[in-house]
Amino acid sequence: LTSGVTADSPLLVEYRGGRDAAGNPVRPNRRPVWFMRQAGRSLPEYRTLREGTSMLDACLDPEMAAEITLQPVRRHDVDAAIFFSDIVIPLRLAGIDVEIVPNVGPVLGSPVRTRADVEALPTLDDDAFAPITEAVRRTVAQLGSTPLIGFAGAPFTLAAYMVEGRPSRDHLGPRTMMHADPDTWDALASWAADVSGRFMRAQLMAGASAAQLFDSWAGSLGRDDYAAHVQKHSAAAFSHVAGLGAPLIHFGTGTGEILDLLKEAGADVVGIDYRVNLAEATRRLGAETPLQGNIDPALLTADWDVLETHVREVVAAGSGAAGHVLNLGHGVPPSTDPEVLTRVVSLIHEISPAQP
Ligand code: CP3
Repeated sequence: LTSGVTADSPLLVEYRGGRDAAGNPVRPNRRPVWFMRQAGRSLPEYRTLREGTSMLDACLDPEMAAEITLQPVRRHDVDAAIFFSDIVIPLRLAGIDVEIVPNVGPVLGSPVRTRADVEALPTLDDDAFAPITEAVRRTVAQLGSTPLIGFAGAPFTLAAYMVEGRPSRDHLGPRTMMHADPDTWDALASWAADVSGRFMRAQLMAGASAAQLFDSWAGSLGRDDYAAHVQKHSAAAFSHVAGLGAPLIHFGTGTGEILDLLKEAGADVVGIDYRVNLAEATRRLGAETPLQGNIDPALLTADWDVLETHVREVVAAGSGAAGHVLNLGHGVPPSTDPEVLTRVVSLIHEISPAQP
């Protein structure tokens, strides 16, 4: 890895379950925190910079993507940057007609529904990742000692957009396909695992220090379906980045019943949504599993004492895990007052880290 990040940054120590890069026990000097969707519409400087540029064009402009990635780090003093991009970027780079429609989400020109549609999916050249690699390099060069987290969409969540052609609530299309035509499902999910795995790998090779696989919609699956039709494809995505020494995080919403399966897919760290108490997550995953999460985004608009009490409860509930990185239980809502996020970061930094 080309990252210049100090091996004992608080974030990476917690992701390694309280160990330095050599594997020796160590305590960080502060509790690390970052927020999913920390880059984005909650920031006025983001809205100004994005004016007149479509979402995916912004992701593919290395200078703009780097600047947007850095904005929340400067403003909030968070302990990590999350690379500004999107889970559908590998589709766009492969030449698939996909747009992010404002206030809707990813929309494809032609949904992928039949065996013939899957067989016609394009191949993605490694060269196509050049704008991503360039944006990561520029970002890391400006981040100093703050680590950059790369990410990708997990095969189920990515394939859900490909089959439905747009955001959906129940993900009926992909859930039908995995039973009605499992061979086509496996071919589609394998394609998605390959492009997502290589997208994460490109970010890590360019200098990102950790990577998160987002299976945002995995909570719509029953445990048996996840185990039979999805987990192996997420494992295939992780296999592209295993052995690089970078902590790997696996997150989805509504995944309380499958936390162990998320870990088993190849993750070092499990991201917990706001529905599961972190002490319960530790009971399900074992104390050796580092956790990430899980401040309820709904409380960002509550009175400060309500939010402060909740943040302190989350810190306490996470203290039984070998490592804990504070985050929200899902992304920052666009209407969030950014000053509240800054205040949450300083509260977390004031709560001194547990000593051995
Ligand atoms: O700060 C960050 O978290 C970094 C960047 C990031 C974005 N998307 C930028 C973005 C990350 C990690 C993602 C991942 C992503 N994209 C997921 C998984 C995470 C999750 O929220 O569950 C999913 C499901 C997508 C697909 C997607 N892209 C959706 C559902 C949307 C929202 C559509 C809308 O307008 O509300 C997007 C667009 C998107 N991706 C925005 C951002 C900042 C908003 C674009 C804008 O500014 O208009």
